[in-house]
Amino acid sequence: MRGRGHAGRAGLGAGLLLALAHMGAPTASAAQARSVSYYTTEQAQRGATAYQQFCAVCHGASLAGAFDVPPLKGRFVTNWSGTTLDHLFDYISKAMPLFSPGALTPAQNADLVAFILRENGVPAGRVELPATDAALKTMAFPSISADRIK
Ligand code: HEC
Repeated sequence: MRGRGHAGRAGLGAGLLLALAHMGAPTASAAQARSVSYYTTEQAQRGATAYQQFCAVCHGASLAGAFDVPPLKGRFVTNWSGTTLDHLFDYISKAMPLFSPGALTPAQNADLVAFILRENGVPAGRVELPATDAALKTMAFPSISADRIK
């Protein structure tokens, strides 16, 4: 799964961002990070509860991963930078939790993405992260500065 699925698209997205940077245009994600509301405090809190219930057993209580499970912090950000948020939402919706993929509702999966963004240093806003592909397609994975990545 890893490398075949989202990695290809992530590579493409990174290439596009690089091309934009070369043209001297500000990257969409940098501009968005200042103005876009990604999720609300309450939503991330719901996501935290779902995470501890469905995900922590493998990815760890602090998202650090384990020897055969990838972390959801740090290099996780590199994996998804340059994509739009529907990719992460789709991946979680269709592939996770690993032994019962597709078991969670769209709202729960959006809550989980909100929680993961919070844990990676993305600030809360006033509008909830939407739980549909169409809406998430318009939102770039936020740019996360290196000093926030643990
Ligand atoms: C039974 C163990 C297990 C559980 C439970 C689990 N995961 Fe995973 N997760 C994995 C493994 C293993 C991978 C790597 C899969 C692969 O590469 O094919 C992974 C990959 C991921 C990735 C991709 C990471 C990256 O950097 O590309 C995300 C995001 C993710 N899981 C989120 C979740 C969420 C959210 C939940 C809870 C709903 C969850 N996982 C539950 C084992 C688990």
